[in-house]
Amino acid sequence: MKTDIPIPDTRNSKLETHSASAAWMNRGKRTLMNTYARQPMVLMRGQGVRLWDLDGKEYLDFLAGIAVCNLGHAHPAITEAVCRQVQDLVHVSNLYHTIPQIKLAERLVELSFADRVFFCNSGAEANEGAIKLCRRYSWQKFGPDRYKIICAANSFHGRTLATLSATGQEKFWQGFAPLLPGFVFVPFNDPAALEAAIDNQTCGVLLEPVQGEGGVKIPTADYFPEVRNLCDKHNLLLILDEIQVGLGRTGRLFAHEHFGITPDIMTLAKGLANGLPIGALLVTEEVAAGFVPGTHASTFGGGPVVTAAALTVLEILAQPDFLAEVKAKGEYFLNGLRQLQPRHRFIQEVRGLGLILGIEIDGDGVPLVDSCREKGALINCTQGNVLRFLPPLVVSREEIDRFLAILDDVLP
Ligand SMILES: Cc1ncc(COP(=O)(O)O)c(C=O)c1O
Repeated sequence: MKTDIPIPDTRNSKLETHSASAAWMNRGKRTLMNTYARQPMVLMRGQGVRLWDLDGKEYLDFLAGIAVCNLGHAHPAITEAVCRQVQDLVHVSNLYHTIPQIKLAERLVELSFADRVFFCNSGAEANEGAIKLCRRYSWQKFGPDRYKIICAANSFHGRTLATLSATGQEKFWQGFAPLLPGFVFVPFNDPAALEAAIDNQTCGVLLEPVQGEGGVKIPTADYFPEVRNLCDKHNLLLILDEIQVGLGRTGRLFAHEHFGITPDIMTLAKGLANGLPIGALLVTEEVAAGFVPGTHASTFGGGPVVTAAALTVLEILAQPDFLAEVKAKGEYFLNGLRQLQPRHRFIQEVRGLGLILGIEIDGDGVPLVDSCREKGALINCTQGNVLRFLPPLVVSREEIDRFLAILDDVLP
């Protein structure tokens, strides 16, 4: 029989719970499927940019649940919106209208290029919907022969079979063949390669404005205008996956605003409800006609609680100066990282746009993730050698300084 291990309240005291952490981790290892390389810690509580584990140890969270808790942990306005909504209505399905969902769609339309919105529950589900919509719109308008979507090498679009097929990283494909046909890969930030890949079966282009999982790769300023022109010239839909870098992460509400273009379809998820599961498909009126009743659906999509939370997130992001502060803090952080570079020859390149930043290092990044954690900072590593920093957008300059001091300490 399992004995229940008490979860102590770590708010006020450092409790002697080291053995409790190990016991919980062992229980997790026995029963959860083995799909994640989890860090050896049990997280209990968060406040702003700080997290505490079961042992009462405090961490600076420079990952924000992988660009999700953009307004920090336990934001009081979001907590209040969620608690209020839970008391009224949690779920009724999309067979009925609910007011938070309609208000959120209206707000997203006001703030973006889009005319219409479809809600789902995750990033992969949003991209899955975008792929379906792109094919169906093309089928309706141009007939059955166009179905190919051009994607980028090193992209990441999710783990469902279709989004995996659209993800340009072979390491994620192993053992899942046959993948869905119709995805073509070209190097990111190379418009000539993209043009060469277009043929009379192509119906769309799917790209991240900045590649996050691909190693914080920021395209040159002329790339997206050229991609937009190619899409217009060949009647292709441009789908932008803003799941990681949308919603203020780069210092603009949507990352494509940096490049002076708009997509036909944009996918959002991660930060939209600051940690509650939500995904969204934002589209123009014309493209929205590709779906009609019965062609796409989601039982939980856009439920009252997550949409109430997301409305509050958008209210905060739309406050005057919020995004200007993200931009300024991003520049401050980038400068701080650049100042570390001459002191640590190990750093090969420093990259960043707003508050998605990374340093490419000469070697394996995983031990440095561990050293940062031991010193009280949470980060992660992509592509084996890129340390990625995604702090909540509410991070302060003082917290950035504290983090830079930890990094300075752990970098060889
Ligand atoms: C750019 C991008 N697209 C899609 C996804 C998949 O999102 P989810 O894990 O919510 O399915 C991710 C997740 O990291 C992402 O970064």
